[in-house]
Amino acid sequence: MPNPRILLIIGGGIAAYKSIELVRLLRKSGYVVRCVLTRAGEQFVTPLTLAALSENKVYTNLFDLKDEVEMGHIQLSREADLVVVAPATADLLAKMAAGIADDMATTLLLATDKPVLAAPAMNVRMWLHPATRRNVATLRGDGVTVMEPDEGEMACGEYGPGRLPEPEAIKAAIDRTLDNAPAPIPLAGQPDFAPASHRPLFGRRILITAGPTHEPIDPVRYIANRSSGKQGFAIAAAAAEAGAEVLLIAGPVPLPTPPGVIRVDVETAREMAAEVEAGLPVDAAIMVAAVADWRAADTAAQKIKKDGSGAVPPLALAENPDILASVAKSPQRPPLLIGFAAETNDVIGHAEAKLSRKGCDWIVANDVSVDPMGGETNRVHIVSKAGVDSWDRLPKNAVARKLMEKIADELTVRAPANSD
Ligand code: CTP
Repeated sequence: MPNPRILLIIGGGIAAYKSIELVRLLRKSGYVVRCVLTRAGEQFVTPLTLAALSENKVYTNLFDLKDEVEMGHIQLSREADLVVVAPATADLLAKMAAGIADDMATTLLLATDKPVLAAPAMNVRMWLHPATRRNVATLRGDGVTVMEPDEGEMACGEYGPGRLPEPEAIKAAIDRTLDNAPAPIPLAGQPDFAPASHRPLFGRRILITAGPTHEPIDPVRYIANRSSGKQGFAIAAAAAEAGAEVLLIAGPVPLPTPPGVIRVDVETAREMAAEVEAGLPVDAAIMVAAVADWRAADTAAQKIKKDGSGAVPPLALAENPDILASVAKSPQRPPLLIGFAAETNDVIGHAEAKLSRKGCDWIVANDVSVDPMGGETNRVHIVSKAGVDSWDRLPKNAVARKLMEKIADELTVRAPANSD
């Protein structure tokens, strides 16, 4: 695509300064960038800086008559190939979800017929607030790509998800949305990849679960396991590199979102199950998460206290839903469904039993007595009805890439790309 055009809407918030770097990166890659500053955005960056960097006029107010004569807001919203909102504040997301058009930015967003990508930035509580969760779900349902914010320390001193993704990550998401992504770094000895549309998983949608789940006992305690999420995140990164649209449903892990991946964070098995269901249909689902088998039957509303008698509180458990098994039985079962199994003994035997018990197509099994959770390498065995394919010990990202090659081959048989 020659010189794709980006309409960049810059919301208010301390992260607005990162939009300057984003404009610089986009211009460097040959994008034509037109900036729109909200009133709140103007408090943090100046139209002059953006005009100088974008080498284009900056729009600030719907009711600027001169702008309307030069280019109407409908035209402005449609001449771009992609509309990007960064930072997308809680307020902007709420207005977008509700279809409110009360200024230049929101009017353009309502009038556009082009894809929209939003990079949120807000305080962690605002991001986790049920109202924002609803708005993000609505927008995603409407086809807007809402990136997951980064996790970390915020300008307000709190810690958690809500930081604007780094400009490089936003640019990578833009590249991918416009099929303009640079070729991934090839593995040693492998031929370089051609453009995105020639990549083995281009046009495929892949769902991945990763990390542990946390099952609350009371407001300060939870049941969990040692899963680091590294293998699942490496698989998500490899799937995106291979050209797939990737939905990563992640348990609580402090890992950065791989470029181009849509990430939904969850805490409990039941939340993971709901997000997985909402993410279907997909071409392939890869369940890498170490889902907690049990949760506390009752979650105490207050912190459980010692009563001084030495008596321990009873901890009744309830079984969690088996997400993999439910997806296998779902009317929306993906053409290729893959489970993982971390075992400590009789790895292949347990994996074979799991394959039929869960109703999936492959089980990727490894021996956690030699590969403790959280390590950097894995020696995996791909167990299917066709037999067992045992791979050498490899770094987790190499396991992920090899798995993508196998998945791409398998999908050409199970779900030929031009059959739909
Ligand atoms: N899995 C799942 N939902 C669960 C438990 C497991 O989706 N509630 C998935 C995992 O993501 C993994 C596969 O099932 O892909 C196997 O997980 P594992 O914990 O090994 O299976 P279990 O059924 O819990 O078996 P075990 O008795 O060995 O714990």
